[in-house]
Amino acid sequence: MKSKLVIYSICIILLTVSSCKHATDSKDSVKGSSMYEASNLPHRDSAKIEKDVNALLVRMTLEEKIGQMSQISSYPNTKDMIKLIKDGEIGSILNEVDPIRINTLQHAAIEKSRLGIPLLIARDIIHGFKTVFPIPLGQAASFDPAIVEEGARVSAIEASSIGIRWTFSPMIDISRDPRWGRIAEGFGEDVYLTAIMGAAMIKGYQGDSLNSPTSIAACAKHLIGYGAAEGGRDYNSTFITERRLREVYLPPFEAAKKAGAVTFMTAFNDNDGIPATGNSFVLKEILRKEWGFNGFVVSDWGAVNEMTNHGFAANQAEAAMKAVNAGVDMEMVRQLYVKELPKLIKEGKVKESTVDEAVRNILRIKYRLGLFDNPYVNEKASVMYAPAHLKAAKRAATESVILLKNEKGILPISPSVKTVAVVGPMADAPHEQLGTWVFDGEETRTITPLRAIRNLAGNNIHVIYEPGLTYSRDTNKAGVIKAASSAAKADLVLAFVGEESILSGEAHCLADLNLQGAQSELIAALAKTGKPVVTIVMAGRPLTIGKEVEESGAVLYSFHPGTMGGPALADLLWGKAVPSGKTPVTFPKMVGQIPLYYAHNNSGRPATKTETLLKDIPIAAKQSSLGCTSFYLDAGFDPLYPFGYGLSYTTFEYSNIKLSSRALKKTDVLTITFDLKNTGRYEGTEVAQLYVQDKVGSVARPVKELKRFARVSLQPNEKKRVTLTLPIKELAFWNINMKKTIETGDFGLWVGSDSQSGKEITFKVIE
Ligand code: NOJ
Repeated sequence: MKSKLVIYSICIILLTVSSCKHATDSKDSVKGSSMYEASNLPHRDSAKIEKDVNALLVRMTLEEKIGQMSQISSYPNTKDMIKLIKDGEIGSILNEVDPIRINTLQHAAIEKSRLGIPLLIARDIIHGFKTVFPIPLGQAASFDPAIVEEGARVSAIEASSIGIRWTFSPMIDISRDPRWGRIAEGFGEDVYLTAIMGAAMIKGYQGDSLNSPTSIAACAKHLIGYGAAEGGRDYNSTFITERRLREVYLPPFEAAKKAGAVTFMTAFNDNDGIPATGNSFVLKEILRKEWGFNGFVVSDWGAVNEMTNHGFAANQAEAAMKAVNAGVDMEMVRQLYVKELPKLIKEGKVKESTVDEAVRNILRIKYRLGLFDNPYVNEKASVMYAPAHLKAAKRAATESVILLKNEKGILPISPSVKTVAVVGPMADAPHEQLGTWVFDGEETRTITPLRAIRNLAGNNIHVIYEPGLTYSRDTNKAGVIKAASSAAKADLVLAFVGEESILSGEAHCLADLNLQGAQSELIAALAKTGKPVVTIVMAGRPLTIGKEVEESGAVLYSFHPGTMGGPALADLLWGKAVPSGKTPVTFPKMVGQIPLYYAHNNSGRPATKTETLLKDIPIAAKQSSLGCTSFYLDAGFDPLYPFGYGLSYTTFEYSNIKLSSRALKKTDVLTITFDLKNTGRYEGTEVAQLYVQDKVGSVARPVKELKRFARVSLQPNEKKRVTLTLPIKELAFWNINMKKTIETGDFGLWVGSDSQSGKEITFKVIE
C-alpha cells in the first residue's frame, strides 16, 4: 500500500506540473500569466448534493445544527471529544494530526451520533505539511504559479493521507508593511501577483475534484484588510475606504472565489470601526451576493467573542448575534454559538432560517469533499517526504531566491575557489530555515546550507565552518573575531544571516527591521578581511540591509526556504542553478519609509531625481517652499530595491516591443509582443513584467500596476518572441461613483525586468 501511495502522489505531481501552463514555455514563444478559473471543475452532481443537504437538514434539531456551526481545537482527552461528537455538538476539529485518533473520532461521528454526519478535520498548513516549502512570501518571489500549485498539491497529498481535509490557507492579505509579522504568510504587496498565486494555491489544495481523497478544502483568509494593520502591529485597526478595499484588498479574494475556494475566514481587525467578523457588507453583500459564493465562512479563532473587546458588542450574546447575522457560518473555536444561539432564536434576534442557511453551507462542502462516502483514512499509509515532494520543495526554494547584488560576477563561485568559510547563525539552523507556521515539518528532515555545501564540496573544496553567532539575536561578539579569522584563511566567505523563524508570523511584528543581534557587526568584520563576502539572507520579511549589501560582494535573499533550502542554495551558489526570483514586495532603505509600495498614486508633487537631502541643506537655511516634492530628507524617495527586482548570473535584453493596436475599444484584447534575448554566458530565466498606468481618471490612478508576467527560460544567445494578452476590461476600476468602469483616455505601458524599468509606450482606450 505504502509504495502504491507514493507512486500515486508522484503521478499527481507530474500531472500537476504538466497542467500548469502559466510558467511553461514552448521552444521559441512564450505566453504570460492569466487567471485561474474553476468554473468547469467536475465535482459531485450539485443538484444531488442540494437534495441530500436539505433532506438532512430537516432531520436536524436546533442543537445539532448549532453543533455543525461549531469547531473545537483537539482535546488531549479523547473521551471528552467523543461525548461531544456523539451528542452532535461539533462539526469540525482543528489541530488533530494522529490518523488513528482521527479515525476514532470519525467513527464516533458516523456510527455513534444520531445523524452520522462526518467531521471536517482542519489544520493550518501554510507552506507544507511535513515537506516544508518556502514561506509564501518566498514562493511569491518565484513569480511562478506552477510551483505554488505544486507545493499546495504536495501539502494536500501529505495532509489528506492522515485525514486532514481542510487547510486555513492561502493567506491572501495584501501587505505593504514588512513590520507586520504575517507578511511572511502572504504573497506580498501586489494585487495581481497575490490573486494569481492565491488561485494557484487553491487549485493545488483542491485538485481537479474536491471529492478526490487527496483534495483538501482551501480557506481564503482573512476577510478583510488584515494586512493593513496600522503601524504594522498585528490585530490593529485598519481604515480602508470602500474604493481601496475594492481596488486592492478584495480582488485576490474574488480571484479565490473564481478559483473555487470553498471556505473563507474572517479577519481579526476592525475596518473603520467594524470588526471583520461582524461585517455583513463584506460577507453578505460582496461575498455572497456580488460574487455568488456558496461555500462557508469561518470566523478566525475567538474572533466572535473578541467583538466585545472591540466595543462592537455589549456582551457575548450580542457578539454571537452580530456574527451569525453578518454571515459567519462556523465559529472557530466553539464558545458563543453553542451558548447563545438557542436563546437568540427564541427571542427572535436570530432567525432559524439564518442558522439553516449556515448549516446548508457547511454540509454542502462536507458532501462535496466526499466525506459522507469516504470518511476514514488508511492509518498505515505514508506519503510524507516522498522523493518527488522533496524535489518539488527544492525546485520551489531554488526559484524563490533573489539575487540582489553580484559585483564582479562573484557568483557563481568559480572553480578556482578552493577554500570557503561558512559563517553566520543561519548556516546550520534547520528549525529556523523552515520559517513561520510550521507545526508538522521536522528539523531532523531539513537540509541546511552547511550540510548541502559540505555534500557538494566533497574532497574538492575545503569548507571551514565558524558560525560567529549562535542565533540571529545573539549579541555575544566573542565568536565574531573567530569567524573573521576563519574568513581570512578562505578564498571566499559565505555569510548566512537573517531572522529566526519565530521573529515573523502571527503577533510577531517588529518596529526595527535591521539585522538582529550582532549580525551587522559580523558582516562588517568579514568585509574587513578583504575576502569576497557573499551574504545570504534567510528571513520572514524584507529587512533594511543597505549597509550589509554595501559591505558584501554579492547578496542572495532566500526568505525562509523550507526543508530543501540548503541544497537549493548550494546549487545556486555554485551555478548548478541560476537565480530567477524577483522581489514580491518593495524593500525599504529605512523603516520610516513604510508603507512603501510601487503602485502608489502620483500625488500633486511627485518626487524628482533632484532631491535635496539632509547633507545638502545649509546651516541656518531660510524657509522655502520652492522645489518641495514628496520625499524624505534622510531617506529620499527610492526604496532599497523596487518591487519586481532581481538579477541573474546572465543578462537579458528586451527589444522590438509591439502593441496589436494603439487605440482599443473596451471590448478589445491588447496583445503585446516583444523579443527577449539572453545576452550573457549562462542559461537563465527572466520574469518579464508588464505594467500599465491609466493616465487620467475620474479618480487618480496608481503610477503603475502589474498586469501580466511571464517566466522565460533562455540559453545563452537565445532569443524568444514573448506574447502577453491583456483584455481591456481588466483596466476597469472603481470610479468616482463607485462603479467598476473602464474609462476612455490615455494609458502608459511598460515591459521590463522590474517595476522601475522599461520605456513607456502609450495607447488609448476609445468608446
Ligand atoms: C489565528 C490565525 O489568524 C488564523 O490565520 C489561523 O488559521 C487560526 N488562528 C487557526 O490556527
